[in-house]
Amino acid sequence: MTEAPTGTTPARGTPPPAAIAFFQDRTCPYHPPTNYQPLRDRGPLAHVAFYDGRRVWAVTGHAEARALLTDPRLSSDRQNPAFPVPLERFEAIAETKAPLIGVDDPEHNIQRRMLIPAFGVKKIAAMRPEIQRIVDGLLDRMLAQGPPAELVSAFALPVPSMVICSLLGVPYADHEFFEEQSRRLLSGRTSEESEEAGDALEEYLAALITRKEQEPGDGLLDELIADRLRTGSLERGELARMAMILLVAGHETTANMISLGTFTLLEHPEQLDRLRTRDDLIPDAVEELLRFLSIADGLLRVATEDIEIAGHTIRADDGVVFATSLINRDGAAYPAPDELDWSRSARHHVAFGFGIHQCLGQNLARAEMEIALRSLFARIPDLRLAVPAAAIPFKPGDTLQGMIELPVAW
Ligand code: HEM
Repeated sequence: MTEAPTGTTPARGTPPPAAIAFFQDRTCPYHPPTNYQPLRDRGPLAHVAFYDGRRVWAVTGHAEARALLTDPRLSSDRQNPAFPVPLERFEAIAETKAPLIGVDDPEHNIQRRMLIPAFGVKKIAAMRPEIQRIVDGLLDRMLAQGPPAELVSAFALPVPSMVICSLLGVPYADHEFFEEQSRRLLSGRTSEESEEAGDALEEYLAALITRKEQEPGDGLLDELIADRLRTGSLERGELARMAMILLVAGHETTANMISLGTFTLLEHPEQLDRLRTRDDLIPDAVEELLRFLSIADGLLRVATEDIEIAGHTIRADDGVVFATSLINRDGAAYPAPDELDWSRSARHHVAFGFGIHQCLGQNLARAEMEIALRSLFARIPDLRLAVPAAAIPFKPGDTLQGMIELPVAW
């Protein structure tokens, strides 16, 4: 597991630059870690070292990232023994089978095609009134109770959590359980904790599927039971694992975008003011926030064959990590990349990944972010941080980026 990539050979006598440790914490919650600066300088590809000393390729160039993320010689198969494990706590779950995100085509394509209709543009557009209703209900409650309020628990987390429950047909009454297990799965302290949380979630969803077989409801899981499980085209364990990916990816990610997005807007009052007067800019603002914040930093792959790129050779079995926070700040793709600016075209960012694994839930995530941010600042125009920005805790670099808490007042 610890073989070094054997890419470009440095000139005789020139020691290769030391590999930079990956992942690192951000110093500011909305900027890439300052300690990644040497990676940016060395780009578009450079070596980094994971916790166990394994050296992998970090991709930081935008053009190179888009080329590599569509290259079938890079695999997402976590069962490949050479697949890079970036954190000690993922060791126990490293070789477990993860549908969609952890499989390659053609298996991946079969799974993804089962789900695409539920996440398509039209289907999500039809969900907008319900998302608005959820957002309005949470804001009503927050306004009735506050100020102050803790925005993560009062708003940023329940919005996507309620929405994904409604889409899948998972009872929101169980939210405390699955939110806690998702947190332990992604950010638990030990390998055992992540493994336990994954098992607990899978068991919970398997039991829910069994209950739904007796008493069908009208969510996506019910449709998959009727159309796929009963017809034998999907196996029970695979359905439970698929449900787990959808449930976890469906709430943790967007919750972080809403909390960190709100914090970032409050810290950029001139950009926030432009949004207040130009409601039509909201979709561009959401796209720019996705680029700027790059909350899913560090997408993983393993090479199955040698790949030549940008003067380097990625060898078969080398691990590759896509540093999305740097790729989305590549000056060749985005002029003045460290500025937040709704006027730029942030399209083509890789905050949702790129290629066959590009985020299945992106239409849903965009709709949730637009509705949540628009309604939050429309209903509470004088929203402000309740404590100094520097005192607000944010997530460490080895998990999805976002705010741990967001105390606000108005
Ligand atoms: C702003 C919020 C979100 C962000 C930043 C985000 C980010 C990402 C990224 C970067 C990937 C690609 C991973 C890779 O290539 O290895 C991905 C894949 C995925 N996302 Fe999202 N996501 C978000 C919201 C959602 C939502 C709401 C869902 C709903 C269920 C979702 C479901 C998925 C699934 C199922 C995949 C795997 C797709 C595949 O492998 O074909 N995501 N997401």
